[in-house]
Amino acid sequence: MSDSETLERFKTGNVTFGVVGLGYVGLPLAVEVGKAGLRVLGLDVQPQVVETVNRGDSHIQDVPAADVAALRDAGVLEATTDPARLAECDVISICVPTPLGKTRDPDISYVLDAGRVIAQVLRPGQLVVLESTTYPGTTREVLLPLFEERGFTVGTDFFLCFSPERVDPGNPVWHTRNTPKVIGGITAACREAGVAVYERFIDEMVPVSSPEAAEMTKLLENTFRAVNIALVNETAQIADRLGVDVWEVIEAAATKPFGFMKFTPGPGLGGHCIPIDPHYLSWKMRTMDYRTRFIELASEVNAEMPRFVVGKVQEALNEAEKPVKGSRVLVLGAAYKPNIDDVRESPAIEILSELGRLGARAAYHDPYIPEIREDGREWTGVDLTDEALSEADCVVLVTDHKVFDLERIFRLSRILVDSRNATASIADRLGAGSPQRWIVKGLALGS
Ligand SMILES: NC(=O)c1ccc[n+]([C@@H]2O[C@H](COP(=O)([O-])OP(=O)(O)OC[C@H]3O[C@@H](n4cnc5c(N)ncnc54)[C@H](O)[C@@H]3O)[C@@H](O)[C@H]2O)c1
Repeated sequence: MSDSETLERFKTGNVTFGVVGLGYVGLPLAVEVGKAGLRVLGLDVQPQVVETVNRGDSHIQDVPAADVAALRDAGVLEATTDPARLAECDVISICVPTPLGKTRDPDISYVLDAGRVIAQVLRPGQLVVLESTTYPGTTREVLLPLFEERGFTVGTDFFLCFSPERVDPGNPVWHTRNTPKVIGGITAACREAGVAVYERFIDEMVPVSSPEAAEMTKLLENTFRAVNIALVNETAQIADRLGVDVWEVIEAAATKPFGFMKFTPGPGLGGHCIPIDPHYLSWKMRTMDYRTRFIELASEVNAEMPRFVVGKVQEALNEAEKPVKGSRVLVLGAAYKPNIDDVRESPAIEILSELGRLGARAAYHDPYIPEIREDGREWTGVDLTDEALSEADCVVLVTDHKVFDLERIFRLSRILVDSRNATASIADRLGAGSPQRWIVKGLALGS
């Protein structure tokens, strides 16, 4: 098959698109591909995930079950636990987890597992795209050798790219289709093949010169966020000591029409991306005897924030002449950010643990997370009744889900530590007449 025929097949032909890993990234991708009319085969190691998709349901909050059901009814989407079926696919996208190991080094075992099963079914004309976030060099150093061992030549027999996933769970505006997608291929032909297929379901592709450039782009984006969040979190701690309202300062700075980008302080970082991805780059650079100072410092500052919030609880209870020990503390929101059901790496876990360590009777409520099980630590959520709010000695708003009735929370809490400054306007309106004696507005203690 000539190069132009191959390209034409990816651009307009009948292509079966395989997605390895049907999680937060893989399922939205599979649905987008299916909506564009391509046949999709999703592979996952978890039978319950496969069953959910095959009965036309969704386990991912951002993906409506109706979308999955429509694609199932149309016979476009299928899920399987059988890796041998990847042989049916012309394109295979890898969307498996890339966590950190116990020593906070990259754990690319999932990428390796996926690469090995793909290597077994690899045939001429296939395109493989790694989408999992990882350190520069993974596509070329880890995946490519697995495929070349089969005796195939990259760029002619098969094609290999890296294209980072930028999906932002819970974002109502930017989703898989309308978020520009960066892609780099091992060869120019790989990149062209990747762009040709992805342009069928992504509005704007951004080709770069190599997989390493694409891998590093993703790490720059997430390091940029981690560092700026750390800067503003440190600013919150500085402002607190100076007795200055950090929120007022941020709002004032944000009026500058150029050269300033607004970030807001909070209880700490969470999720599968921002707290983890920069460490992939740190690790890679350590192997080259280079220390990534910004990443280490940002990680240190952000990791302090859950304790800073607990410190505010302590201060607020102190004002009410109560010790933390034995006090009832109700944590509102366990997810790492608003309007999602993801508790991975959430600062709420550290806050609950620290409150428990200090002897508080800590409980939490999150409408999206009925229970938390993390490293042997377990909590079961409580209902958000009027009693739960009014009987708590202190309520801590950790995640300001849109569904929270903030005015009710504000009115009924005796003490409210609002780590997101979500109740600022309510506090301004009701402050003086409100029942609580001490309000911690956006981390700054005030009366
Ligand atoms: N969640 C996000 O917001 C987000 C955003 C951008 C990038 N990413 C990156 O995308 C990648 C995937 O993240 P996620 O949040 O979708 O993870 P996830 O845990 O939600 O989903 C991963 C899925 O892969 C499956 N899986 C694991 N090993 C497998 C294997 N060998 N074969 C088949 N399936 C396998 C798991 O069962 C799971 O269903 C990670 O590298 C992550 O850093 C995530």
